[in-house]
Amino acid sequence: MATRRIRRFALVGTGHRATTMWGRSLLEGWSDYVGLVALCDLNPLRAERSRDHIGVQVPIYTDFDQMMAEVKPELVIVCTRDDTHDELIVKAMEAGADVISEKPMTTTVAKIKRILEAEKRTGRRLDVSFNYRFAPTSARIKELLNSGVIGDVTSVDFHWYLDTSHGADYFRRWHAFKEHSGSLFVHKATHHFDLLNWYLDSDPDQVSAFADLKHYGKNGPFRGTRCRTCPHKAECDHYVDMRENPLYEALYEEPSALDGYVRDACVFREEIDIPDTMVTNVRYQNGVTVSYSLNTYMPIEGHHIAFNGHKGRIELRQYEKQPWTEPPADEIVVMRNFGPAERIWVPHSSGGHYGGDDRLRNMLMKPGLNDELRQRAGSRAGAMSVLCGIAALESSKRGSPVAISEIWGEDNGIGLLDRID
Ligand SMILES: NC(=O)c1ccc[n+]([C@@H]2O[C@H](COP(=O)([O-])OP(=O)(O)OC[C@H]3O[C@@H](n4cnc5c(N)ncnc54)[C@H](O)[C@@H]3O)[C@@H](O)[C@H]2O)c1
Repeated sequence: MATRRIRRFALVGTGHRATTMWGRSLLEGWSDYVGLVALCDLNPLRAERSRDHIGVQVPIYTDFDQMMAEVKPELVIVCTRDDTHDELIVKAMEAGADVISEKPMTTTVAKIKRILEAEKRTGRRLDVSFNYRFAPTSARIKELLNSGVIGDVTSVDFHWYLDTSHGADYFRRWHAFKEHSGSLFVHKATHHFDLLNWYLDSDPDQVSAFADLKHYGKNGPFRGTRCRTCPHKAECDHYVDMRENPLYEALYEEPSALDGYVRDACVFREEIDIPDTMVTNVRYQNGVTVSYSLNTYMPIEGHHIAFNGHKGRIELRQYEKQPWTEPPADEIVVMRNFGPAERIWVPHSSGGHYGGDDRLRNMLMKPGLNDELRQRAGSRAGAMSVLCGIAALESSKRGSPVAISEIWGEDNGIGLLDRID
């Protein structure tokens, strides 16, 4: 029997995401397909802690170019801070590797162009880890839309809720600064805009948004530097003790001595510059209109989405965390105009994003899998969702709608966004 070839991969950026999703869990489930050959992080102590948790004996690098030259991985998985993805993606492709980038693919228009141009020039492949496309409810909704049960979709209501724990977490670290994350319009909403682009099978055309910082940052009643040393521990609802999470403690606490990157910085720091309360309208090229919102200090975690069509409506209210008991399944309601409604129960699967993370890893690691629903997302999808977020942020600053074509500008006739499907 022929033995399967194991793809040699390297991880760059060895924080929590790399260590769990693309480190330990990947090797536990997919080691017949891929083998980890090196780790790279600017912080060698964090990389050591990551290597310990993953449970491998591989070299650690702080210099990405050196790792590429010495180890020559076939695949690089990029899990660094969002604004650094482009440089590492481009270098990896230039060194002959395919790349999986964590979302968002990147944070600015210039960086998007740089990535797409490098992919075209090198002929390598870039995948973007849009795991929400693989969540069981997302797949079921896509099937229902494809079936035509509600006819052509005319509009979408889409509201995403981050709770006081997960939402606050974005304000503890680099995500809290536009320069590093592009704001949550890019960092977080890249998932949501990608879901819309995929569900609707169209590109965003015009974007209009309002956004404010209403709860975190300068709005706090008091502030410290970080939770561990904060004089307001007892009175702060957002106080966290990172020691309760041994992996966070190992990856971030002692390693912070090398780079100053603490995992529990104060959510009320004055200098935080991203909005926490956002609403957006999007008009698609196929005429569909969307109303979307993102709130970050809610008592619930999850989303509500509804597709309105000529023949009916599909609705989902998905709770990932809530202060009441929900059944271990999500309900999608399909309502037909002038006809009956149907309640479809979609069971939760185990693992991250109700099994979406495992399905994404299957799709990316196992060769030749059927992709009937087009869940696998490449650089174009990565680009379109980020462009939508950049346009939303720009619109919220200007106070007027922004066209995607305007922020995209010229690409010197290279056709970087030509549809490839
Ligand atoms: N798909 C999802 O659901 C999901 C979930 C969590 C995180 N993410 C994404 O994964 C990525 C990592 O998230 P995280 O929470 O682990 O971040 P993190 O900040 O904990 O870790 C990032 C690591 O990258 C290192 N780093 C930064 N710049 C570097 C460079 N130029 N070269 C080498 N190392 C560098 C940092 O030292 C740090 O150790 C982010 O892009 C994030 O958006 C995706």
